[in-house]
Amino acid sequence: MFQLTCRIYFQNGKTLSSASSIYEQVGGLPFFERLVDRFYQGVVTDQVLIVLYEDPENLVKSRQHLTWFLAQYWGGPMLFNENRGHPQLRMRHMPFRIGNLERDRWLVHMLAAVNELVTDDDIRGAMTEYFVKAAEHLRNDTGLPISSAEYPR
Ligand code: HEM
Repeated sequence: MFQLTCRIYFQNGKTLSSASSIYEQVGGLPFFERLVDRFYQGVVTDQVLIVLYEDPENLVKSRQHLTWFLAQYWGGPMLFNENRGHPQLRMRHMPFRIGNLERDRWLVHMLAAVNELVTDDDIRGAMTEYFVKAAEHLRNDTGLPISSAEYPR
């Protein structure tokens, strides 16, 4: 979901309008790098989450991939697709058991990052809504005996 804002420019007496993406409004790639840095500051201290990472000592690629994905999602260049292929996030998260607890811990850190770094109320609201829905969508452990978590795909 993209939120588009119309800007009107006056040029030689003519009115031109253009739409800018949230990616542009927040300042482009550097914003998403800061957001992901702030998110991972929380993740590395979180015993529920950090055990899910294959190499917790080296999160360079994890940061990079999340930054590419979020920048792309919010209207920036298609860096994730170019470097990693189609996101297919649900499939990519199947190796990790994501229940209510993991989902909520993930959200604690991401929403803290959003609240700290996003000053515009509408953009903060749009990001919060997206992350809450997407994290629930990626939950793959229902807590019931039948669950799709950790199934090889
Ligand atoms: C809004 C929700 C989420 C988004 C947008 C998201 C996005 C991503 C992306 C883009 C990747 C990299 C995939 C790749 O390049 O192959 C990734 C990896 C990963 N995600 Fe998520 N994720 C979300 C929620 C969660 C949740 C709730 C958990 C569980 C606690 C989780 C745990 C992980 C783990 C463990 C990895 C592997 C990290 C690595 O080593 O690269 N994610 N996620």
